[in-house]
Amino acid sequence: MKGTVIDGMAAYEALVKEARVDRPGFWARLAREHLVWHRPFTRVLDDSNAPFFKWFDDGLLNASYNCLDRHLYNGNAEKHAIVFEADDGTITSITYRQLHARVCKVANALRGRGVGAGDRVMIYLPMSIEGVVAMQACARIGAVHSVVFGGFSAKSLHERMVDVGAVAIITADEQKRGGKSLPLKSIVDEALAMDGTDGVHTVIVYQRTGGTIVWNPPRDCWLHELEDAQPDTCEPEWVEADHPLFVLYTSGSTGTPKGVQHSTAGYLLWSAVTMHWTFDIRPDDVFWCTADIGWITGHSYICYGPTAVGATQLIFEGVPTWPNAGRFWEMIAHHRVSIFYTAPTAIRSLIKASEADSTVHPRRFELGSLRMLGTVGEPINPSAWEWYAREVGGGRCPVLDTFWQTETGGHMITPLPGATPLVPGSCTLPLPGIEAAIVDETGSELPNGQGGLLVIKHPWPSMLRTIWGNPERFRHGYYPPELGGGLYLAGDGAIRDPETGYFTITGRIDDVLNVSGHRMGTMEIESALTSHPLVAEAAVVGRPDETIGEAIVAFVVLKGPRPAPEDAKNIAEQLRAWVGKEIGPIAKPKEIRFGESMPKTRSGKVVRRLLRAVAKGESIAQDMSTVENPAVLQQFSHRA
Ligand code: WTA
Repeated sequence: MKGTVIDGMAAYEALVKEARVDRPGFWARLAREHLVWHRPFTRVLDDSNAPFFKWFDDGLLNASYNCLDRHLYNGNAEKHAIVFEADDGTITSITYRQLHARVCKVANALRGRGVGAGDRVMIYLPMSIEGVVAMQACARIGAVHSVVFGGFSAKSLHERMVDVGAVAIITADEQKRGGKSLPLKSIVDEALAMDGTDGVHTVIVYQRTGGTIVWNPPRDCWLHELEDAQPDTCEPEWVEADHPLFVLYTSGSTGTPKGVQHSTAGYLLWSAVTMHWTFDIRPDDVFWCTADIGWITGHSYICYGPTAVGATQLIFEGVPTWPNAGRFWEMIAHHRVSIFYTAPTAIRSLIKASEADSTVHPRRFELGSLRMLGTVGEPINPSAWEWYAREVGGGRCPVLDTFWQTETGGHMITPLPGATPLVPGSCTLPLPGIEAAIVDETGSELPNGQGGLLVIKHPWPSMLRTIWGNPERFRHGYYPPELGGGLYLAGDGAIRDPETGYFTITGRIDDVLNVSGHRMGTMEIESALTSHPLVAEAAVVGRPDETIGEAIVAFVVLKGPRPAPEDAKNIAEQLRAWVGKEIGPIAKPKEIRFGESMPKTRSGKVVRRLLRAVAKGESIAQDMSTVENPAVLQQFSHRA
């Protein structure tokens, strides 16, 4: 692939060198080239209070101005910003001029309801143009959005709402997925009926389906009525570079989900730069990222990155397997998608589906518009990578295996099209400006070929600024003193190829599971299980799964006796439903197994390594001399 924005390895290496030689100069150049500043910054990095880094901190800007207003004057005004395909196939689109107008109306409406800079607004919406409008409208007035994925339960929504101290919520009556209508507004009502939500004075409802909902005036108001009453221009709130743009909750290994707080300038900068570097975005591209706006990928590569660079993007409401598993390929063909970005789980499930039914095989579709393929969220196994490259990309499209995290804001380690020689199963090399390394438990760098902890050496502009309301959790979790305090700990294991230095991510090193590319904390699922009246103890582990990456396996000890085999299935079903209600359907254990007690060490620690082995069905050859009650492992080896 010739003529990409970083054309050839020499160009990549030149950028890497530029960043090494003059780090602040490098970031300052990018920030001047890619962002529009209301007041230019004079300082680049303030590391006087590490790891609470500040970037470009005396500059003023507005994220929505950068994503929308600049396109009113650069020839993009009448270009499609978003083409939306609904679950039922209905297509609508919106130009940059129209998107700007809608964002201004909603921003005015929010201001009219008393929402101002720094206030937090929850967004609980389906995939929609309105989702992007809501996020951009918050950004326009300097309000901090916190999007919650529509698959989370009322309890999860409530937990986040209270932690972030929300004053308003933007939701929809219902969402449509796979031909079904699923409630959203009623879940918001349920969450608001719980304690600690008095601060929420406004609920704005997007009418998606027209389904029946309960209405509570004056708190509740319709999005379309608010928009109709507002002018289509709105003076942006000029905020400082590090003003929080959003808080996005993600799972950690311990405790409740943490609110990852991102900045305005540094975050937006990297979303825009990586649209160019990683995706080589061009004016006539049709970009399609299949993530949900409830996750970081939907923030960086739907709401902010594509708009910042004036791209046309496709947004999809539904699921890849409805009405059949050819939906993605049909959409790529129909919309002439040129850059396609999805998760390994989706690829693996579509491989399976196309093996079972040749009519949904990508080869049956006209995919000649594609020029770039990306993956994100979990390791991609070489065979899925190769299938993706061959069957979807027709052997002509690079597969960009992008490694990054909610906390990093944008891509960290990824191949660059037209530069990096690709190796299936490797996310290859860090982007210019990012210095990744592999270290041992004391923070000493390991030689290539030796697996260890993945760390990032220097701060970078799009990194999280803190954990909302919990700076200590930020400091300890990401800059652990054991590693010397100066290294960002990603929480993943990785290894570098002895010859090329390429990185391969081996998976999380903590108690975080990656289920279908979604991060889940084992502890969250355990606390959901133990809050059930029948459950005394629970331990949750991940079992490698061919399709979804990791499957959730729960080991449960009931308050009463271990259930008889005929009752176990029924109780397991009850517990699964309970977890679905407590956290959301994505957290439901695939399997639940019952034992009389938990296998523990004499000091009372659950022996997870043994449970992991049991979950995999391995015969246990490990040393069990430290286990108090080894006999229960036998019980746990049976599925309910
Ligand atoms: C995993 C998603 C291997 C990793 C953007 C990371 C990956 C976690 C890759 C972050 C990849 C993400 N190869 N593993 N290309 N991309 N991961 O916060 O374990 O939802 O720590 O962000 O996903 O998940 P998160």
